[in-house]
Amino acid sequence: MKIKMEGNIKLINDDGLRLDGRAFNEMRPIKIQTGVIEKADGSAFIEWGANKIIVAVYVREAYPKHTQNMDRAIVKARYNMAGFSVEERKRPGPDRRTMEISKVVSEALSSAIILEKLPRVEIDVFIEVLEADAGTRIASLTASSVAVADAGVPMRDLVVGCTAGKADGRVVLDLSKDEDNYGQADIPMAILPRTGKVVLLQIDGDVSEEEFDQATSMMMNAMKDISKIQRDALMSKYSIEDGE
Ligand code: CDP
Repeated sequence: MKIKMEGNIKLINDDGLRLDGRAFNEMRPIKIQTGVIEKADGSAFIEWGANKIIVAVYVREAYPKHTQNMDRAIVKARYNMAGFSVEERKRPGPDRRTMEISKVVSEALSSAIILEKLPRVEIDVFIEVLEADAGTRIASLTASSVAVADAGVPMRDLVVGCTAGKADGRVVLDLSKDEDNYGQADIPMAILPRTGKVVLLQIDGDVSEEEFDQATSMMMNAMKDISKIQRDALMSKYSIEDGE
């Protein structure tokens, strides 16, 4: 549940602009780069606003053998925050939040990967958050999807995600850290854009049905642009390699 922070902070000014100057339906800038870890089968680096996250993917026969699934691949995403990624030093090791994020990211990726094409295989997705500034689960998932594709894993589609929420009682896109802390709701969502299938949806806080519809339609629009950034990142890597 969202816990209201102490104090009264105005998140939207009289001109309708947010603390970082964005309009209510404006995203933070996003950059994605692939092939950033030589040794990995696939990798990606995402900068989403001030979030910086690196993902490395390894595709191998599951070991020990008894963990193998004879019919399909297993996806194991592990989300980790570097000690220096947040204002107060993050204690090393998994906590409830990191376990939850690892689980929802693994499940969302599993919906996109054609698992039955890779029996007995384990797809390890290592997510390292270097700098966190709200929205890291969605930024991680968006980058992981690109890293898995970069590893040559057969996929139905590239998972794309976005966050919306409520700040000063108003629905806004892509929450900043202050909006996440002092706002009234946080809604991360991810889809397979080709079919529109929802593969991650969490609601933390209070939203009416109307606000939820407003938030999802804003996110659906934004996800079209984010999908394009994902595809461009993959295309630019492979067009450089082809040109060599
Ligand atoms: O990152 P995301 O929005 O997906 O998840 P959250 O649990 O809603 O966390 C929101 C933000 O709180 C993170 O992005 C971090 O910036 C911050 N955070 C933190 O400062 N210290 C932690 N131990 C965990 C999160």
